[in-house]
Amino acid sequence: MLSNSCTIGLNVKLGVNVSIGHNCIVEDNVILGDDVFLDSNTIVRSGTVIGDNSFIGANCIIGEYQMNNCKRSNRGDYSLNIGANALIRSGTIIYSNSKIGNNFQTGHRVTIREKNTIGNNVSIGTLSDIQDNCKIGNYVRLHSNVFLGQLATIEDYVWIFPHVIFTNDPTPPSNELMGVHIKSFAIIAAGSILLPGITIEEDSLVGAGSVVTKNVEKYSIVVGNPAKYMGDIRNVKNKITGENAYPWREHFERGMPWSGTGYDKWIKNQGADC
Ligand SMILES: CC(C)(COP(=O)(O)OP(=O)(O)OC[C@H]1O[C@@H](n2cnc3c(N)ncnc32)[C@H](O)[C@@H]1OP(=O)(O)O)[C@@H](O)C(=O)NCCC(=O)NCCS
Repeated sequence: MLSNSCTIGLNVKLGVNVSIGHNCIVEDNVILGDDVFLDSNTIVRSGTVIGDNSFIGANCIIGEYQMNNCKRSNRGDYSLNIGANALIRSGTIIYSNSKIGNNFQTGHRVTIREKNTIGNNVSIGTLSDIQDNCKIGNYVRLHSNVFLGQLATIEDYVWIFPHVIFTNDPTPPSNELMGVHIKSFAIIAAGSILLPGITIEEDSLVGAGSVVTKNVEKYSIVVGNPAKYMGDIRNVKNKITGENAYPWREHFERGMPWSGTGYDKWIKNQGADC
């Protein structure tokens, strides 16, 4: 269903049962899959591809132009590809020239700049700001107000809690940037700041409010400013049940591929498939 007040460009391909709301603009060469819903006032810039069954909330800009000295740049080479089942909440702006996997979710008013690669089953919380040239793996959760500086790399199954900042310039302002690297299953707790070029190893945890100035080893907890080693994550107990809280994948399943199976059984089956 197309609203009377929407504008559709040239060479646009619409799947079946696409719904486009009031005042939306769908520019040239856009592809919208089956059952895509665009809510009011949303703009989809030219060359964008949105997969089946995706919902784009009101007042979003999807495939935004990359500006060069405030002039509209040549759009020819740019595109944005978003997989199936996206849920992009109102006010989100996603620039062109990125690739985003299936089941992607954003909160409200998220900004994602150009040249990012984002895997499947990723969610990015309200008001988060993802700068360009970042790599985010699969099943990664960023909560609200997270800032990822350029060149950040986040591997699979990583949790980033609210108000975490990834820096990248050791001597600002400069042109020599060093991205932060977070390895699989790591957790960065609320309000932490990660200094440029830091690597956080697998299954480690950065405690709330920490300023991390050095690499963090596997299974380590670090806390404080500057963050210091506090202990082995495998000794931390859940404050309510009193049971071991980590590795979290052995106790937490919601939204994960091992949901209903348990991690150990799931990973064994993965091995069997290889
Ligand atoms: C790091 C963390 C996991 C440690 O949990 P824990 O092992 O149960 O630690 P405890 O609460 O027993 O505290 C042990 C000591 O470490 C200190 N401590 C705990 N967390 C700290 C932190 N983030 N920064 C500085 N010191 C901290 C405590 O004050 C306590 O010190 P004391 O022995 O001198 O009294 C936990 O404090 C934390 O930061 N959790 C994450 C909270 C969060 O951001 N959740 C996600 C968003 S909702």
